[in-house]
Amino acid sequence: PINIDDVQELRKINPNTIPERFVQDVTERPNLNGIPLSLSPSPDDMPIIDFSKLTKGNKEETHEEILKLSTACEEWGFFQIINHDIDLDLLESIEKITRGFFMLPLEEKQKYALIPGTFQGYGQALVFSEDQKLDWCNMFGLAIETVRFPHLWPQRPAGFSEAVEEYSREVKKLCQNMLKYIALSLGLKGDVFEKMFGETLQGIRMNYYPPCSRPDLVLGLSPHSDASAITVLQQARGSPVGLEILKDNTWLPVLPIPNALVINIGDTIEVLTNGRYQSVEHRAVVHQEKDRMSIVSFYAPSSELELSPMPEFVDENNPCRFRSYNHGEYTVHVSESRLQGKKTLNNFA
Ligand code: SIN
Ligand code: FE2
Repeated sequence: PINIDDVQELRKINPNTIPERFVQDVTERPNLNGIPLSLSPSPDDMPIIDFSKLTKGNKEETHEEILKLSTACEEWGFFQIINHDIDLDLLESIEKITRGFFMLPLEEKQKYALIPGTFQGYGQALVFSEDQKLDWCNMFGLAIETVRFPHLWPQRPAGFSEAVEEYSREVKKLCQNMLKYIALSLGLKGDVFEKMFGETLQGIRMNYYPPCSRPDLVLGLSPHSDASAITVLQQARGSPVGLEILKDNTWLPVLPIPNALVINIGDTIEVLTNGRYQSVEHRAVVHQEKDRMSIVSFYAPSSELELSPMPEFVDENNPCRFRSYNHGEYTVHVSESRLQGKKTLNNFA
């Protein structure tokens, strides 16, 4: 039986029809008319952090790059990093196996169908009702640490598991490093998050956005912020622009830079810093002729962690903005909520 919510299958059956469930309300639709030239900030202003200056620079370079990082986190919540330590061949191989997986026949992919109430498996997560709009995207998610579902790890394409394992090990190192420099950029000790987080959680989600005959009517991924501490996002080579962040009430595209990775602040860091660094709302739009892929890795504290704003960020001028909560309970809340911008966090804490 054909799953008519599967966008790749929909394209095969009738490439010119957009089922009603994918047509966004007028206010939610993307603006594909381009960014006015006068717009400030412009997409070109998005910060680019040179990771090698953080880790291998001389004292002055490192200091300067940490200052840049603090502006990037405080004013943008999103930035790109260049000269990271992840092997470029590894970036390429993860893209190859991602494409290989999504190109498998539907029956094969459905062997790894989404486990309801989780982000793990193939399909669309966070769909709760018949009248809820669907995103123009197919997704495949896996937990890397700690608890895995071994039956969700695909046998095909060849080399899938090995590539994901190796990539995720490298991404974890990158996240640990970034959290250290983020801590330093806040004037905190470098190891403060590592010490606090306990046994960290890591997940990966591959997104495949087929072309869409009416990209003006649909969203690839609805607006949301990430529940993670930080997220590492790889926009596949050759993919059109698709990721957009909400900056000063305008949706700004994140222009792909070859071999760079996008980093964004998640809800955990927003709460810990009492909003000094914020998790920024983002979404994805799709293209009329080209498909797009992204590979997203989430890094988060142990679900046992009790979170609340750190005392360093609370005073008379900065009253405490969040209640304390258990991170695991927040994760459950997220998996029970539709994607709805910043409401997921704000309705919870
Ligand atoms: C995401 O926010 O998880 C993915 C956005 C993208 O595809 O760039
Ligand atoms: Fe996201």
